[in-house]
Amino acid sequence: MRIAVTGGAGYIGSTLMRRLVEGGYTAISIDNLTRGDYTPLRGLEGSMELLVGDIRDLNLLMGVFQDVDAIIHLAAIPGLKACDENPEEAISVNVYGTNQVLRAIVEAGVKRIIFASSAAVYGAPRYLPVDEEHPLKPLNLYGVTKMAGERLVEAYHENYGLDVTILRFGNVYGVGLYTRWDTVIPKFVRQGLRGEPLTIYGDGHSSRDFVHVEDVVEAVILALRHGGGFETYNIGGEPMEVGEIAEIVCEEVEAATGRRVEVTHLPPRIGETKRIEYDITRIREHLNYRPRWGVRRGVRQLIDYALKGGAFEA
Ligand SMILES: NC(=O)c1ccc[n+]([C@@H]2O[C@H](COP(=O)([O-])OP(=O)(O)OC[C@H]3O[C@@H](n4cnc5c(N)ncnc54)[C@H](O)[C@@H]3O)[C@@H](O)[C@H]2O)c1
Repeated sequence: MRIAVTGGAGYIGSTLMRRLVEGGYTAISIDNLTRGDYTPLRGLEGSMELLVGDIRDLNLLMGVFQDVDAIIHLAAIPGLKACDENPEEAISVNVYGTNQVLRAIVEAGVKRIIFASSAAVYGAPRYLPVDEEHPLKPLNLYGVTKMAGERLVEAYHENYGLDVTILRFGNVYGVGLYTRWDTVIPKFVRQGLRGEPLTIYGDGHSSRDFVHVEDVVEAVILALRHGGGFETYNIGGEPMEVGEIAEIVCEEVEAATGRRVEVTHLPPRIGETKRIEYDITRIREHLNYRPRWGVRRGVRQLIDYALKGGAFEA
């Protein structure tokens, strides 16, 4: 099977490209390298196509999508902060760009798309754990653009019979490009290893569903193998409060380096959901998805990676 991945140079994309090739797929990435980087895929150029280009370029996409069996659409401006810093680009890439991908899919005769969405579409949960039937009420621009993307793929499913799987990823962590990011787990590990206090926004009781990048990629491949029609799935791993993560990082950094780590609190950030925890029954039952990673193991993996000299700067 020939698979095109948008955003294949990104954090999730580069992990996915590697796994696709290992699974016997022919994989093509298209990425404009604004955030991504093909370095993690160095040495694999012979077994995959790594293209540099923009998803808003319809002609380019139509060429790339010829003879492709499915598109995995990951390219985006991801996260609350990145979208708020550049709202025009966020709307352009996440909404207009998604529409361009869909137009090119129809023109090229591709029948299937997997769309990367986010827990941000739910906003403040009305009940926990959140299942896929929970109302969508995003609290920030990122969530709004992801919701718009979901509506667009749904419209193309209705109008053109496209097979669609929407995957709403939780908070993704694990080694890879993301170790340079400022999201909670790598930020804590970086601060802990530098001997700085871990900075928690708010009281530490806000929670997220943390899912390891290898489990995310597993879910994408399961959806690719078994999905069809129109389906939406939550992709979760282990729900946890930020304060608990800080405790795990303190313990694991101390175990690895012998140094004690302190914690400090900053005011909460506006537009952030306080607590979210996923119900993943649907994907467990439909696709037999079983997350294999927990947060403590993921934190150990990151510390080990950093201590062995892995790139870890923001
Ligand atoms: N990482 C998470 O915790 C998380 C959580 C929920 C959803 N997601 C979604 O998963 C997808 C992948 O996220 P990621 O974490 O790998 O982010 P990422 O920033 O590492 O990857 C996105 C990639 O898209 C590329 N890109 C951006 N604009 C482009 C354009 N106009 N044309 C071509 N390429 C472009 C970037 O260069 C980057 O390589 C995104 O759609 C994101 O919204 C991620």
